[in-house]
Amino acid sequence: MSLAWKKSAIAMIAAGMLVGSMAACSTERDSGTDAGAGDGDDETFVGIAMPTKSLERWNRDGSHLDGLLKDAGYETSLQYADNKVDQQITQLENMINQGADILVIAPIDDTALAPTLQQAADADITVIAYDRLLLGTPNVDYYATFDNYGVGKMQGEFIVEALDLENAAGPFNLEPFAGSPDDNNAKFFFAGAWDVLSEHLDSGKLVVPSGKAPSSNDDWQSIGVQGWSSETAQSEMENRLNSFYASGTQVDVVLSPNDSLALGIAQALAGNGYAPGDEYPVLTGQDADKANVLNMIAGKQSMSVWKDTRALGDQVAKMIDQIVAGETVEVNDEETYDNGEKTVPTYLLQPQVITPDNVDVLVESEFYKAGDLGL
Ligand code: BGC
Repeated sequence: MSLAWKKSAIAMIAAGMLVGSMAACSTERDSGTDAGAGDGDDETFVGIAMPTKSLERWNRDGSHLDGLLKDAGYETSLQYADNKVDQQITQLENMINQGADILVIAPIDDTALAPTLQQAADADITVIAYDRLLLGTPNVDYYATFDNYGVGKMQGEFIVEALDLENAAGPFNLEPFAGSPDDNNAKFFFAGAWDVLSEHLDSGKLVVPSGKAPSSNDDWQSIGVQGWSSETAQSEMENRLNSFYASGTQVDVVLSPNDSLALGIAQALAGNGYAPGDEYPVLTGQDADKANVLNMIAGKQSMSVWKDTRALGDQVAKMIDQIVAGETVEVNDEETYDNGEKTVPTYLLQPQVITPDNVDVLVESEFYKAGDLGL
């Protein structure tokens, strides 16, 4: 139940009216009696639960959204959970006990929060899944994210173009990686890329010397890197290079779903003697983290998919204003994100490919200062 519902219900009971069939619609809320906290005249409390500070993007996500909400007059609590599920559960329980009206959650483990979300529902708290979907629970009201399948598709299409797979004979040696097995986004990233690449695997233009090629999209977790860890990706890449490339075979392309894995993979490549230049493998990524943009400029990563976290925060802040004002919450996808219990109304934003040739986009949009990138 949304804040608007809660407040209008209280008003109706106070007026001695019988609260009857108040069936909530997924995207449209009853017009509340409240003017909305966006004006700063209300004590709406928003809890923001982010997964970890160890990855650059979540720091930016958290501080941007928190700043926006504070400026609009909301009371907020911004918490990071060091990628520890128990810590995130405790933080959410505290927010619920402190009287949160709305929770914005980027989960660490997408299925682990169902009991906590039941507590949130019992306290009439509206829940927005942020960037990552919450699975196996009816108690998630909205989802805001980037087109996750589109991210993977961009990575796959980049590889097809970079290796000229439509024309070149190959075979090219590919090593694929996938994201954390407990992150629903990772499934979409992998599917987007694999749907583009599989015809070239079938034709034999792409081969996977390590054999670590999922037999289908559903098998993506077999190559998943727990917690999106750079260190795990590095040691996995080192193992593959030592075991399957010892005879001087060259790796031509590495499908990395994001920048934290790409950092570890680039380290492993460097340790194995791969230097920037024509022989350096095509290496994908996502997030346009600063270290990775620097790697791109230095020739150690080929691309990244940029998701402007400010736009995501802006959209979520807008959702919150709409929820509080009892307005229709704007969504643009009501089909894709089935969490096992319901299809969650979603707002999807569009990502953008960044390569060494267009990093200035990041400066022009003031995502980075030129000096940050040594430009
Ligand atoms: C996000 C990515 C991020 C990854 C690791 C995913 O859920 O969508 O942007 O790179 O988590 O934090």
